[in-house]
Amino acid sequence: MKNFTSILQLGNINEAVRKAEYVKANPFADQELGRNRTLLMLFFNSSLRTRLSTQKAAMNLGMNVMVLDVNQGAWKLETERGVVMDGDRPEHLLEAIPVMGCYCDVIGVRSFAKFESKADDYGEKILEQFIKYSGKPVFSMEAATRHPLQTFADIITIEEYRKKERPKVVMTWAPHPKALPQAVPNSFAEGMQMTGYEFVITHPHGYELDPKFVGNAKVEYDQDKALEGADFVYAKNWSAYEGENYGKVLSMDRSWTVDSRKMALTDNAYFMHCLPVRRNMIVTDDVIESPQSIVIPEAANRVVSAQTVLKELLKG
Ligand code: CP
Repeated sequence: MKNFTSILQLGNINEAVRKAEYVKANPFADQELGRNRTLLMLFFNSSLRTRLSTQKAAMNLGMNVMVLDVNQGAWKLETERGVVMDGDRPEHLLEAIPVMGCYCDVIGVRSFAKFESKADDYGEKILEQFIKYSGKPVFSMEAATRHPLQTFADIITIEEYRKKERPKVVMTWAPHPKALPQAVPNSFAEGMQMTGYEFVITHPHGYELDPKFVGNAKVEYDQDKALEGADFVYAKNWSAYEGENYGKVLSMDRSWTVDSRKMALTDNAYFMHCLPVRRNMIVTDDVIESPQSIVIPEAANRVVSAQTVLKELLKG
């Protein structure tokens, strides 16, 4: 694998999950693979899980790790070409990227949607420049439109917990006070297309995702109806994608919050969320604290997901 920006690059998802199972059972089996090789993790945005799980994954593989928070301690970066750099950004990304590439063997990048230009966000302007100019394998630690390491961890977790050959997985929009990107729901929907699961997306009108990611998933606007018989409830907020509403919060309707009444409609479903989660906006305290909540094992599988992908990148 040269770069990793989409879950689709894993190819056959069942084979990828088998590789992940091996990594989980044998976390230190491939220490030679990463020996004397350096991972640079670059954050344009905040992180808890991605930062720690990816660092742990790299350490399990014997790698050296460097972490740079672009907004803390580095020169402010100009990202637009052609700009007269007379402002507060003394370094251009076009020099910074190849320089960073000189110092490492693999680069992980976190760069969220900025909501300034849908074309730039959906063109993955920042991530694509790293791929083009760094000269090193690049992987997404959540970019503008996808979060493939999260999706892979989600699928690994569903495989661990599913009791049916073809579980019903429902991804539900839930309210949030701030405009969040569509990266996690896009990526999750993309990943679900690789599985044989029954997959349903539910959200209020106006929150339709890019059809490219929705694929042939069923979209049900009635949340209660969508949740009937679900085996997994995957809650997530996202801002509007379509038209002039791109990046906007259209609703904070708390009747969409996942609570015990909603979970009672399911087939004793497991509750999932990528975290961080706003309690009593996205999900009530009792649901996230219930035995059916698997948010912690889901987060734990982020190490497995990152290590499996890093292994493939190191093998080239
Ligand atoms: N789920 C996830 O990516 O968490 P962080 O934003 O904390 O990395």
